Amino acid sequence: MHLCAESPHFDTKCMCITTYESLSGYVSDRILEDNLENDLRSLSLSKRKTSIVQNSTPVVTARELVLKKCGQEEPLPFEECYSKSVLQNCQKIGEGVYGEVFLFKNPNGGTSVMKVIPIEGDLIVNGERQKKFDEILSEITIALELSNLRNNNDNKTSGFSEVQKVCCVQGSYPEKLIYLWELYDETRGSENDSPDIFGEDQLYIVLQLANGGSDLEAFIFNNSLQAYTMFQQVACTLAVAEEELHFEHRDLHWGNVLLSTVDKNSKVTFRLDGKNYDIMTKGVEVAIIDFTLSRIECEGVVIFNDLSLDPDLFTAEGDYQFEVYKLMQKKNGNNWQRFEPYSNLLWLHYTLDKALTALRYKNTQTKVHKEYLGKLRQLKDEILNYNNVKEFVLEYF
Ligand SMILES: Nc1ncnc2c1ncn2[C@@H]1O[C@H](COP(=O)(O)OP(=O)(O)O)[C@@H](O)[C@H]1O
Ligand SMILES: [Mg+2]
Repeated sequence: MHLCAESPHFDTKCMCITTYESLSGYVSDRILEDNLENDLRSLSLSKRKTSIVQNSTPVVTARELVLKKCGQEEPLPFEECYSKSVLQNCQKIGEGVYGEVFLFKNPNGGTSVMKVIPIEGDLIVNGERQKKFDEILSEITIALELSNLRNNNDNKTSGFSEVQKVCCVQGSYPEKLIYLWELYDETRGSENDSPDIFGEDQLYIVLQLANGGSDLEAFIFNNSLQAYTMFQQVACTLAVAEEELHFEHRDLHWGNVLLSTVDKNSKVTFRLDGKNYDIMTKGVEVAIIDFTLSRIECEGVVIFNDLSLDPDLFTAEGDYQFEVYKLMQKKNGNNWQRFEPYSNLLWLHYTLDKALTALRYKNTQTKVHKEYLGKLRQLKDEILNYNNVKEFVLEYF
């Protein structure tokens, strides 16, 4: 993850920190100036180089900024964030190289998930080095900004996974969670290392999200009308975030769109530029997750992941997903700092392709199913003629 000031007069300074390595090289102990009005700026701007040297301004570390976002002063033991009784009712539901995802019954009602991400340690986990505080800070910030769009005024959406809590914990992995990891490994097979490798000093970020349901790949739709409303919800959500945050998801494959079943007569409301758009859910509600590759702009600071440093992303072949990475790169000239909302349209095109070729439907013989397959086909033919999702949504919905 990289942070950079977008405004033109920061351009040269921005160069200093367009790679994570140069940021860490220059602020070797990750000491950054405190600017309480704008945590992002304090982490990102290389102009701080001079400030740090010249002024005796208070300084703050990325660690402190993360702890502040967590509402903590120090990392806490796991049990202080999640009691034994909560862990007792947990299940492992997913995994990634970053760590493990568990589902649990929230004592405040409903079900939630926790993403447990080991950070800062020297151990290589799942073949990767662990994220540092400054890298995880960007991820936490993106997830929070998108989640908070549900409370925004003129540009409002509940289509991004709701962040309920962020904790920084320290210690060896809870026994119960190790047991659940082993159970998952035996029943479904895990590609990850067992979390029993972590010692007492290990730090983690636990991101608690509302349970968004199952992903597009696993979900079984009644018919293509439900897929159509899923598509509308994804499109409106992207349009709102494009407008408010200059957001690009950049990795919106079918594992990162979640669906839950809701009342079939319910609707969801989006607000774009102060205007409301109601969409009938037809029984499915969308939650977009996983902002590891995403880009946002927040108070003049760009947070992005420099994918040009990850050439492997562009060599994979097979699914259309892997073509989309290449198409995004072609469109932005491998400059991942730049806002290029066409990338969001590419992922919508991918979603339409999946709806037509790979999503699963219960009732395929009905008139409504055939009718909406036709509409999805037409959308797929036309969507790449737009410049961004906002423009598309304004014309289509
Ligand atoms: N809010 C959520 N609700 C339900 N399941 C989730 C949620 N967040 C993540 N998951 C599950 O965990 C998996 C991995 O999470 P994700 O954030 O996509 O991480 P990764 O970067 O490894 O893809 C998802 O594919 C999904 O199955
Ligand atoms: Mg994912």
